[in-house]
Order: sequence, then C-alpha cells, then structure tokens
Amino acid sequence: MIGSVATGIPNRGRDRKIDPRRRLIVALDVSTAAAAQKIVAAVGDSALTYKVGMQLYTAEGPQIVRDLIASGRRVFLDLKYHDIPNTVGAAVSEAAKLGVSMLTIHAAGGGKMLQSAVQAAIARPELMVLAVTVLTSLDGNDLEKIGVRGTVEDSVVRLATIALANGCQGVVASAREASTLRAELGEDFAIVTPGVRPAGGSVGDQVRVATPAEAIASGSSYIVVGRPITDAPDPAGEARAILGQISGGFN
Ligand code: C5P
Repeated sequence: MIGSVATGIPNRGRDRKIDPRRRLIVALDVSTAAAAQKIVAAVGDSALTYKVGMQLYTAEGPQIVRDLIASGRRVFLDLKYHDIPNTVGAAVSEAAKLGVSMLTIHAAGGGKMLQSAVQAAIARPELMVLAVTVLTSLDGNDLEKIGVRGTVEDSVVRLATIALANGCQGVVASAREASTLRAELGEDFAIVTPGVRPAGGSVGDQVRVATPAEAIASGSSYIVVGRPITDAPDPAGEARAILGQISGGFN
C-alpha cells in the first residue's frame, strides 16, 4: 500500500521509529542550480527530500531534478498541475519518469483530472500524488468572489475528500487544516504542511505558522521548511534542530 510504513514511506505514521529525516522537506526556492546545490551541500545528511517548485523548475528545467535524484536525494516536485485530465496525466507521467517521490496537483481540477494523475503515477508506486485544496493566500471573501460558497474550511474538507476518493495519497495543508482533516477524514493519508517555523524563530511573511512539533501534533506527516533552513548561517544545524522538534511532536 502506498504511504504505508511497510514501504518505508510514512503517511500519518505515529510510529516514532520512522527517521524524522523522512518527514522534513527543504524548499529550494532559488533561481539557479548552483544556488540549489549550495543549499543541498550545506544541509548535508540532515535532510533527504527537497522541494523543487515553479521558480527553480522554470529557471533550470528538469536537469536539476535529475541531478538531485542522481545524488541520492528525494524530490518533491511542487508544480501544482491543473489542466484537462489528458494533459495532467501526461505531465505526471513525465514526472514519474524523472523519478520524483512526491508531486502536487490542484484538487479543484476535479475527479477525472485527479484520476488521470493517479493512473499516470502508478508506473512509479513510491510516487505520492498530493492534492492542493485551497491556497492559504485565499480567504472566504476571495472564494465568494469566484463563486465558492461556504467557509474556507468547508472547501478544504470537500476538496480533500474528492482528492482521496479519487486515489490521491495525500494533501497539502496548513497545521490548522491538518487537525480538521484528521478529525474528518481519518488517518490513512499523508498531510504535507508548509509554512512551518522552528520554535523561537522569526515568522517572516508567513501568516499562519506552526512549529514543527505543532504541525506533527496536529496530524501532519511531512513538513516543508524553506528560508529558516536555507537562509540560516548553519543550515545543517538548523535542520538538525528541526528534526528534534519533529520528534518532539510525537510526545
Ligand atoms: O521559506 P518558507 O519556509 O516560507 O517556504 C515555504 C515553502 O512552502 C515555499 O516553497 C512556499 O511556496 C510553500 N508554501 C507556503 N505556504 C503555502 C503553500 C506553499 O509557504 N500555503
């Protein structure tokens, strides 16, 4: 089963024996492969998984993904696909060939698009297809203006339900949403939480932040941390401190 402890890929996994390094994803939000590789070298063995998003992928293309994987790292390809089912399926198929471990699609693309993505990922069983529900930059007023009724939370739960029913292995959600999703939808899916800030660190431009321990305690399976690690004077030390805080989330 994808996402099970048996495959070594944690989902909710309250099993503390899982190496906390499997739960930490470092966001490579830079514009050049050289800058990305500098961060990866500075983090060293303290993290296994790196998020390549629109900025780095648009600047450097798939070679940076290939290089990271060739050097033994896992890649979370965060391109948030949202298009007709055939196009998204074809893109996921290419991502699977690249060897990425996680990727994102928009749940709002609907059931057929989600199924097409999940089908395309079957060729690579360890690839987790994660659905983005409501972007945290949107509030209730924004949703109303685009014709979506109800609270943001209603939309998040509705979209996550559709994503999981159509075979996605998990969702991207803030720590606050994580606790709601766990309460409403159970344990058997991954929750990837960005906007995490180490205890005692600065919040920067993130609005709703959680510490690593809070995110894990809320039900997150993975946390995404960018600048607190990538801008730190000692990225490896910062990552190690975060790993300790992830373990603390299980206490
Ligand atoms: O540097 P920082 O830790 O804020 O980076 C967070 C990463 O997570 C960025 O790549 C950002 O795009 C992503 N993200 C986020 N908040 C969301 C969704 C994604 O910060 N709600």
